[in-house]
Amino acid sequence: MGQYRRHVFICTTGDCCPFQGETEAYVAHLRKRLAERGLAKEIRVNRSGCFSQCGHGPMVVVYPEDVWYGGVRMEDLDEILLEHLVNGRPVERLRYKAPRGPNKDPLRYEKIGRKPTGGPEKKG
Ligand code: FES
Repeated sequence: MGQYRRHVFICTTGDCCPFQGETEAYVAHLRKRLAERGLAKEIRVNRSGCFSQCGHGPMVVVYPEDVWYGGVRMEDLDEILLEHLVNGRPVERLRYKAPRGPNKDPLRYEKIGRKPTGGPEKKG
């Protein structure tokens, strides 16, 4: 068993997610809501770097269930908090499904005017 009942990671410093949503504000919002419920010591929210799923974000990952959410909007956070973090029921409509390993999407990078700057699958 880990140190926390649930541990949430939000991609705040990758190449893409912070440009697809205000992910720093996501961290602040979830921390505030958890504190209001007296859950801040049980459910931890951390900033994260890139998960190598760029273009599918903003990405949010919840452990210990190992549930990955993609395309998360600010308005989705309260549902993730109530359904998953508090009640243990992952929000299926937001669940990210992709082959295991890195899944960066260069076309989506273009859409938001960004270029990949590195990551585990960078060649050369
Ligand atoms: S920038 Fe968020 S997964 Fe890469």
